[in-house]
Amino acid sequence: MRVDIISIFPDYFAPLDLSLVGKAQSTGLLSVDVHDLRKWTSDVHRTVDDTPYGGGPGMVMRPEPWGQALDAIGPGTLVVPSPVGKPFTQADAYSLAQLDHLIFACGRYEGIDQRVIDDAAARMPVLEISLGDYVLFGGEVAVIVIMEAVTRLLPGVLGNASSLDEESHSAGLLEAPVYTKPASWRDRDVPDILRSGDHGRIARWRRTQSLLRTASRRPDMMASYPPDLLDKSDKAA
Ligand code: ADE
Repeated sequence: MRVDIISIFPDYFAPLDLSLVGKAQSTGLLSVDVHDLRKWTSDVHRTVDDTPYGGGPGMVMRPEPWGQALDAIGPGTLVVPSPVGKPFTQADAYSLAQLDHLIFACGRYEGIDQRVIDDAAARMPVLEISLGDYVLFGGEVAVIVIMEAVTRLLPGVLGNASSLDEESHSAGLLEAPVYTKPASWRDRDVPDILRSGDHGRIARWRRTQSLLRTASRRPDMMASYPPDLLDKSDKAA
């Protein structure tokens, strides 16, 4: 997968060289290029923003540098992180992981002039994506989050791809709690059943924990869980 990121703060993206996203880059599964938007400015101050038409607080990103940047880098699937975007989900991460070329446009201030998004949408798919119902200073951190979620789904990135099947949000439920050694720590014991070796009962226990967790923490997820996927013992739980 090829990824281009356009931002006025290219240094924000150093973490993409670390850990498993960094490894995906060094093994050639992923290539990431970070571009400084100011490269596409033409005035001496390298201006990227201006006051909003219609008045109001803050500044808006001017369209010209964005237009030139996208002409130079596109086409691809343009992802614009924004608090007015569609909420990001694991399903979106799976869809993005199928694509060959992603372009991330990081807005700052009050956002990017709307014409940039409209103009790009005439030439390439554009997705405005929100991380949640809160406002960040800009799209940079959101891009790092989206890149982590997408990179771990690229074929060959995770050693054990079957761990993707059972994790939280892929099966519509939250995952059960997990434990490792030692069996007893600060007088707290690992649930006996996990040490029983009875794989059938362990699977049943995990399923029950998963349902209880989802029902108490995420009633919204539980409400949209398909009822035909609930068996008799689920209902007893
Ligand atoms: N930029 C500013 N706030 C954001 C949010 N909540 N999600 C994605 N991008 C953003």
